[in-house]
Amino acid sequence: MPQAVIAPSILAADFGDLAADAQKVIDLGADTLHVDIMDGHFVPNMSIGAPVVKSLRKHMPKVFLDCHLMVSEPEKWVQDFASAGANMYTFHVEAHANPAALIEKIHAAGMKAGVAVKPGTPVEAVLPFADKADMILIMTVEPGFGGQSFMPSVMPKVKTLREKYPNLDIQVDGGLGLGETIETAATAGANVIVAGTSVFAAPDRKAVISGLRQVVNS
Ligand code: DX5
Ligand code: ZN
Repeated sequence: MPQAVIAPSILAADFGDLAADAQKVIDLGADTLHVDIMDGHFVPNMSIGAPVVKSLRKHMPKVFLDCHLMVSEPEKWVQDFASAGANMYTFHVEAHANPAALIEKIHAAGMKAGVAVKPGTPVEAVLPFADKADMILIMTVEPGFGGQSFMPSVMPKVKTLREKYPNLDIQVDGGLGLGETIETAATAGANVIVAGTSVFAAPDRKAVISGLRQVVNS
C-alpha cells in the first residue's frame, strides 16, 4: 500500500484567519490541504470556491491543494480551479455522465484528477476509472458537513479497490480521527486520510497528524 498522506480539511479551520490556520497544520506535519467545495445543490450546504483557493495559493505557493468538488456541474469549474492554483480536482461520479472525459479534461488543465463516491453509491461506479484517475475518494460520511460520524459500512468498497489496485491512492473523508476510525480505514486499505474536526479542534494537532500517519504506515 502507498505511504500515508494526511490531508486536514480546512472546512474545520478558522475561515476568518484561513491562511494562517492552514499554514499551522502544514508546519505541524500535514502533507496536503483538503479543500471542500459545496454548491448548495449537489449537497445541502455551501462553502467556498475558486477565489479562496487563489488566495490560499498566494499565501502558500508550495502546498498541495486537494480540492473536493461537491457540486452538480463539475465540468464547469475545471479551468477556474486550475487557474486558481489547485493541484488536484476530485469530482463526484454521481455528478457526471462521462467521468473518463472529465478526467482527461482535468489532466489537460494541468491538475491531478480524483473521483469520489457517496456512501450509497456502489464501488462498481468508480472501478472503470481507477486506472485513469490519480485517486479514488470513498466518502465515509454523507457529503455536506464536517463533524459527522464515520461510517464503517463503506469499508468493503475500500477493500475491493485495494485488492484490485495495490498502488492506488485511496482517500477516505469524513469522521476520521485517532482510535477506531483510522484503524478501521487503514486496515481496509485507505492511505489518503482527510481529517477536519479531529485535527483542527485538537489541543495537540501535531499528535493527531503524526498518530494518523503512524497507523496507516504501520
Ligand atoms: C464532508 C467533507 C469532509 C469534511 C470532513 O462533506 O467532504 O471533508 O469536512 O470533516 P470531518 O473530519 O470533521 O468529518
Ligand atoms: Zn471532503
